[in-house]
Amino acid sequence: MTETDSSAIVKLLTPEGQSVLDSVDSTLLAADPLQAATALRRRARAHLAATSRPQPADTADTADTADTANAQDVTGPPEAGGATGTSADAGTDTDANTTTESWLREVSAAALTQARLRLRAERKLGPVAQRLYFTAAGLEQATRAAVASYRAERIAGVAPEAGLVGDLCCGVGMDLLALANLGLTVHGVDIDPDTVAVARANVAALGLESSARVSLGDVTTDSPVRPEDCAAVCCDPARRDGGRRIFDPRAYTPPWDTVVELVRRAPAGCLKVAPGIDHALVPTGAGAEWISVGGELKEAALWFGALAEPGTRRATLLPGGSAEAHLGGTPRHPGVSLDPDPGLGDPPLSAPRRYLYEPDDAVIRAGLVGEAAALVDGALLDPQIAYITSDRKVDTPFCRGFEIDEMVPFSVKRLRALVRQRQFGTITIKKRGSAVDVDHLRRQLRPAGPNSATLVLTRIGKKPVCFVCSEVTTPRGTNLA
Ligand SMILES: C[S@@+](CC[C@H](N)C(=O)[O-])C[C@H]1O[C@@H](n2cnc3c(N)ncnc32)[C@H](O)[C@@H]1O
Repeated sequence: MTETDSSAIVKLLTPEGQSVLDSVDSTLLAADPLQAATALRRRARAHLAATSRPQPADTADTADTADTANAQDVTGPPEAGGATGTSADAGTDTDANTTTESWLREVSAAALTQARLRLRAERKLGPVAQRLYFTAAGLEQATRAAVASYRAERIAGVAPEAGLVGDLCCGVGMDLLALANLGLTVHGVDIDPDTVAVARANVAALGLESSARVSLGDVTTDSPVRPEDCAAVCCDPARRDGGRRIFDPRAYTPPWDTVVELVRRAPAGCLKVAPGIDHALVPTGAGAEWISVGGELKEAALWFGALAEPGTRRATLLPGGSAEAHLGGTPRHPGVSLDPDPGLGDPPLSAPRRYLYEPDDAVIRAGLVGEAAALVDGALLDPQIAYITSDRKVDTPFCRGFEIDEMVPFSVKRLRALVRQRQFGTITIKKRGSAVDVDHLRRQLRPAGPNSATLVLTRIGKKPVCFVCSEVTTPRGTNLA
C-alpha cells in the first residue's frame, strides 16, 4: 500500500486541476453535458495558458506572436513543464503538447465528474457540498451531514477537546469533518489512497487542518491510530461491494468481528451499521440507535464504552430538508429520541378507531411500536403490523397521524369506484402487510379530480383492508419539537 499521485482525482486536487474544476459551468453541465465538456476544455486550456506560462523577462516585449501562441499551448500540467516550466525546443513542444492534451482531457473529465458528484452530494450534505470533494464510492458511503453532526455531538460529550478521536475507516471524511467542526482533535485512517487524498482536501476545504488529519493505513494491521490511545473512536466500515449494498454485517470490510473488537478497545466508541441490522447481532454491553432524517430511516449506530447505555434500543429522529445540519456551519441537531419503557407490556389490540398512526421507521426498527402506541393512547390493529389506532388526536413526532374516513375491504374495483365518486385526483398510497404493487394500483385507480386522500393498505388478521384517510399531524421533517 503506497501513497500514489497517479489518479485523475489526485490530479484534480492540484492547483492546476482546481482551476479546471473552477471553470466548470454547472448550469450548462446539467443542460448539455457534451457541450459543457467541450466548453470546459476550451476554457481550461485558455485559462492555463493565461495564468501559468512564465514570461521570460528579456523577451517579454519582443516575443513573436506565433511563438507566443505556440508556447501558450504547451503550458498546463506540471509534468509538461507548463505550470512552472518552459519549453525549450520543437521536439519538447510536440511531446509537451501531447502531454498537455491528455492531461487536459483527463482532468476535464475528472472535473465534470466532480461537478456532478457535488450536485448529488448536496442532497446529503447541503450547500457545503459545493466546497468539498468526492469519489463516487466515497459519496455513496458518506454519512449525511445531519447524522454526522448528531453523532459527533454525542462523541464530543465524552471526548474532551484535548483528547484524540480516531475515525477508523474515515472515507472521504464526513464524520471526520463533523467531529473536527466541533473543535475535537480527530485523526482519520483509510486504506484507499485516493480516498485519503480526497479526505485531506476536504479538511483543507473547510479550514480544519489544525484539528483534523488523515493517514493512509489499514486499521486492522498497521493502523497509525490505535483505539486505546484515543478518548473515543468512530468506525464506519465499508458496506458496499463493487457498488452493491451489503446488508449482512458479517460481510462488511473490515469484517464485523474485527470492527467490534476495534471499537471495544477504545474507552468510548461508535460503530455505524446498516439500519436493517438484526437485534441479535448487537454486541453485549452496546447500545443501539436507529436514526431517521426527515422521516426516512438512514442508519443505525452501536455505542460502546462510555458512550453505551447497555441494552438501549433508541429511535432518534432528525429533521430533514432545510433544517438539515451543515458540516461547514454551526452544528445543531434539534432531534428527538424515544427509548424503551421497561414498564410497558405488549401493546393492546383494537378494532379501528377514529385515528390511524404510522410510527417513524426508526421507531419500528428499534422495536418501539408499543412505546409509540402508548404515546398516542392507542392500540395495534394487528399484532404483526405497525399500524396504531386511537380515539385521540395526538401530535407526536414519532408517528404520522391520519383521520380515518372510511374502511373498505381491499378490492381494486371498489377502490376505483370510490376514487371516481369522491373525485380523488391526488392519492398517497401507503401499505404495511400488503403485497400490492403501489404504482400499479395507482394506475388502476385512475385518480382524477380536485380532492386528495391517503389510502392505507393493510390487513387485520387475514383480511386485506384499505383505510381512506387524511393526514392530521404536522408532516415530519419540518417540526420535531
Ligand atoms: C463507509 S466508508 C466511510 C465513510 C465515512 N464515514 C464518511 O462519512 O465519509 C468506509 C471506508 O472504509 C475504508 N476501509 C475499508 N477497509 C479498511 C481498512 N482495513 N482500513 C482502513 N480503511 C478501510 C474504505 O476504503 C472506505 O473508504
